[in-house]
Amino acid sequence: MSENQAPAPGSTALPPGAAARPVTLQVNGNPYTLLLEPRTTLLDALREVMHLTGTKKGCDRGQCGACTVLSDGRRIQACLTLAVMQEGREITTIEGLASGDTLHPLQAAFVAHDALQCGFCTPGQICAAVALLAEARAGEASAVEPLAAPALPLSEDEIRERMSGNLCRCGAYPNIVAAIREVDGKR
Ligand code: FES
Ligand code: FES
Repeated sequence: MSENQAPAPGSTALPPGAAARPVTLQVNGNPYTLLLEPRTTLLDALREVMHLTGTKKGCDRGQCGACTVLSDGRRIQACLTLAVMQEGREITTIEGLASGDTLHPLQAAFVAHDALQCGFCTPGQICAAVALLAEARAGEASAVEPLAAPALPLSEDEIRERMSGNLCRCGAYPNIVAAIREVDGKR
């Protein structure tokens, strides 16, 4: 490829002179060794290199939550972390939540409650909700009651506050909250 020739779609070709290095990521239980520039975000590594396109790119600047994934069980925005920073951690994306043909309970609840319209925000919403329930179970406070462990199951206010980093342009919030409340109530 000459310097002025565009890489083929899906190509992992690097610009001339870019200092790529091997990066090993553990994603959904599988190891991936990739050749990445250090500036590559986790989001771009997932979508453009590993072709795990369930994780969505909305704003690419930490404002919408569409790219939410789990890193060692904690929710993070994949557009705000470099892939190289995630070496040694277990990354879970929406593709890794189901067990074979059995949906994760939150995935099933989103379907049952019709908690989506276009679905673009949904992978991030579900990953955030998985972490939210774990955080509440661990007694982590939110801005609703900053000095106290939350009462379980969580109130609607608690869920809305804890999900406030995930935007839905379709406005499916009531059904998203209902889906999370259903799973929270079954714990
Ligand atoms: S794409 Fe990462 S927060 Fe919007
Ligand atoms: S379902 Fe369309 S943005 Fe949330």
